[in-house]
Amino acid sequence: MTFSRTISPSPTVGGQVSVPGDKSVSHRALLLSALAHGETRVSGLGLGGDVRSTRRVLTALGVEIRDDGPDVVVVGRGWEGLRASLQPLDCGNSGTTLRVMMGILASAPFESTLTGDASLSSRPMERVASPLRLMGATVETTQGKPPVRVVGGPLHGISFGSPVASAQVKTAVLLAGLRASETTRFTEPERSRDHTERFFAAMGAPMTVSGNAVSMSASKLEALGHVIVPGDLSSAAFWLAAGLLRPNRAVLADGRDGVVVLNTLVNPTRTGFLEAVALMGGEIRVYPASGGVEPTADLHARYGPLRGAELSPDLVVRAIDEVPILAVLATQAAGRTRITGAAELRVKECDRLAVIAETLKALGATVRELPDGLEIDGPTPLHGGRVDSHHDHRIAMSAAIAALCASEPVTIDRADAAAVSYPEFWETLDSLCEIAGRSV
Ligand code: S3P
Repeated sequence: MTFSRTISPSPTVGGQVSVPGDKSVSHRALLLSALAHGETRVSGLGLGGDVRSTRRVLTALGVEIRDDGPDVVVVGRGWEGLRASLQPLDCGNSGTTLRVMMGILASAPFESTLTGDASLSSRPMERVASPLRLMGATVETTQGKPPVRVVGGPLHGISFGSPVASAQVKTAVLLAGLRASETTRFTEPERSRDHTERFFAAMGAPMTVSGNAVSMSASKLEALGHVIVPGDLSSAAFWLAAGLLRPNRAVLADGRDGVVVLNTLVNPTRTGFLEAVALMGGEIRVYPASGGVEPTADLHARYGPLRGAELSPDLVVRAIDEVPILAVLATQAAGRTRITGAAELRVKECDRLAVIAETLKALGATVRELPDGLEIDGPTPLHGGRVDSHHDHRIAMSAAIAALCASEPVTIDRADAAAVSYPEFWETLDSLCEIAGRSV
């Protein structure tokens, strides 16, 4: 159900929160456990719409996944356990589900059709289809987009240079490579997030990583038994930004002020947001915590002045989902912030460069769109108004944090989009803000 949310400015913020399980790690925990042999208990799985899409698609393919208290148990029976679905496989809003499933289904000996909602149906799929065809699979897109038809079969290895840095493309090709007759080599222009490589290494699938290239041969995946999913840094970024932008309340048990996000993923291929904030002069302290397959930390953000910075492509690839919230920070930073190397954002859940520029300009910010990024001059006082999420979760949540700094309330249309990655976002926002920040 679509709803709008009105957020009032908040004089202060503060508190300690946990965020949902990391979305990228949650998808992989379900998918790779289903392809291994044996049971895997997954603790801390993200419960957003995208991860539920992955679960629904796996269930439609005959994989047994059951709830056990707060955990989920996946019964892996390898590729042999997958059964053709009579219905199209509905991936909802989730690009990761659809693209990674293409790689899995490329070697499953039956026909499948993958579909999605209106936003996913406008996103490019040839970037995955073309390497899979080179490996021997039959893959048909609809003018490059979903629905996608995959007829799986025997695959052979390829050496593929991807024109885009994309963990979804990489994961699809590597999953096909697990079943291919020769070595598969995948190279990308910048190193994208490496969760799949970490899972493969832990699950006994040998791999060689060299710079931006990964090579691997056919292998079986061993079930991990238990996977603990750390909190999502992409979700934590909204609260950390709130802590940087608004004066803090001393509400922590030990008398500290600021915003603390507990138990958050700090995989170095994902920490571009933390590096960008450091370049902008912001204070986020990192307290390492014990993790599993992935490094984890408690993160503590404190209010203070920010300055503009040059955020270049090698950093931006590690903060690709955080560009909208970095743009919000930039509106309050002294001087110019230039974000480049972010052309991929034009083909996310919406054209995020166009929509974040439109959203922040509607609230009074000075933003210029570049072909592959944004240029923002600050600090600019933000005023109230009405903006639209374009049904993009990260736009809805970024607009809510911008609203905390505005002079008047901001109404966000289609605010329900946040549930794709963060169903409890609005309740947590209310708990961190002073009464004035409460949403109505
Ligand atoms: C993801 C990869 C990224 C990211 C998306 C999740 C993943 O997309 O933006 O939110 O889990 O592999 P690309 O692979 O298109 O860069």
